[in-house]
Amino acid sequence: MHISAKVKEMEFSGTMKIAAKAIELKALGINVIDLSVGEPDFPTPQRIKNAAITAMEKGYTIYTLASGIIPLREAVGKWIKDFTSVEYKANEIIVSNGAKHSIYNALQTIVEKGEEVIIPAPYWVTYPALVELVDGVPVIIDTTIESGFKISPTQLRAAITPKTRALILCNPSNPTGSVYSKTELEEIGKIVLDYDLYVISDEIYSRLVYDNFEFVSFPSLSSELKKRTILIDGVSKAYSMTGWRIGFAAAEKEIISAMGKLQSHMTSNPSSISQYAALEAISGSQDDVKDMHKVFSERRKFLFDSLCKIDGLITSNAKGAFYLFSDISHFIGKSFDGVTITNSYDLAMYLISEAKVVTIPGSVFGTEGFIRIAYATSMENLVEGVKRIRIALEKLF
Ligand SMILES: Cc1ncc(COP(=O)(O)O)c(C=O)c1O
Repeated sequence: MHISAKVKEMEFSGTMKIAAKAIELKALGINVIDLSVGEPDFPTPQRIKNAAITAMEKGYTIYTLASGIIPLREAVGKWIKDFTSVEYKANEIIVSNGAKHSIYNALQTIVEKGEEVIIPAPYWVTYPALVELVDGVPVIIDTTIESGFKISPTQLRAAITPKTRALILCNPSNPTGSVYSKTELEEIGKIVLDYDLYVISDEIYSRLVYDNFEFVSFPSLSSELKKRTILIDGVSKAYSMTGWRIGFAAAEKEIISAMGKLQSHMTSNPSSISQYAALEAISGSQDDVKDMHKVFSERRKFLFDSLCKIDGLITSNAKGAFYLFSDISHFIGKSFDGVTITNSYDLAMYLISEAKVVTIPGSVFGTEGFIRIAYATSMENLVEGVKRIRIALEKLF
């Protein structure tokens, strides 16, 4: 048997052991509260499901253009413009099998072997894995809770070398929920232009921003920066459509055309039925999106306020996505019942066994000393989950 070195060296998702432990407890009939999830807990809105059924009935069950049906690409252009004022034509947009696939296509299209791609940590685990897959080199910039988990201009300049090709910006961020302000983005933008970098701006959580925080889309900063940006978005998070596998990229038409060529050989088009569902999602009534946003906003407020009341836990007041990132360093070195916490993984495992609550250790996202707590679950689960976390943490001494 032979497995290529590239795939052999690729790591399984760091959440697997945590998930396995949670599944084991659930199988024993134990009531486990899962605050590790990375997808909305709402059903896909009925109007979207209906559009998929209609598409099937109309016979839209065959290949489409590899880069996606024109009506959807036009609708994505309008959807982006209405939200960010940035204009993209249909030939500047590609529809992929999820935003993850768009990011892969983008990296494969712009990165040469050995070129560097800057990734701020904590990062979504897929970024470094995909950079390595395309023979690029991930260059990690560490951020802190004090900076709201955002990179500074000084850090960015220091990380750039003659080999730097791109920066991946996750805004709003998975795992921290942090969102960059316009001024912060402008500072990054100046450096991007100075060094002629590309920015892969992953804005998949951009419609999930709370407390009236003004979201600014990277390509909206200037026409020069729009040329340097590959914008990533999709329907997975805002429309609760993770299983439908539809994501988008928008960029200069030469880049999109090259990404389309790649996609045509790798997967052909994304599911025709899902494309019609996505068309309804973004161009139909947006009331359901507003309703989901309202629920997330209430959950976020509850979760942040109650985590702040737990002694020793410091939680970042992040304004986006559906995650909070809490500093657990106070508990490092403490023990209960013969178990000593030496890192974030130990703490996450302790919370599973002692509190029956699943969170994700920061180490998975390249940052020790934190856990990610998701609020993509019911208020009832959040109330019970926070109570259990508090009781378990109080036992550590
Ligand atoms: C930051 C970020 N980008 C992209 C994705 C992928 O989205 P999709 O399901 O559309 O591939 C995720 C999913 O977890 C994510 O957290």
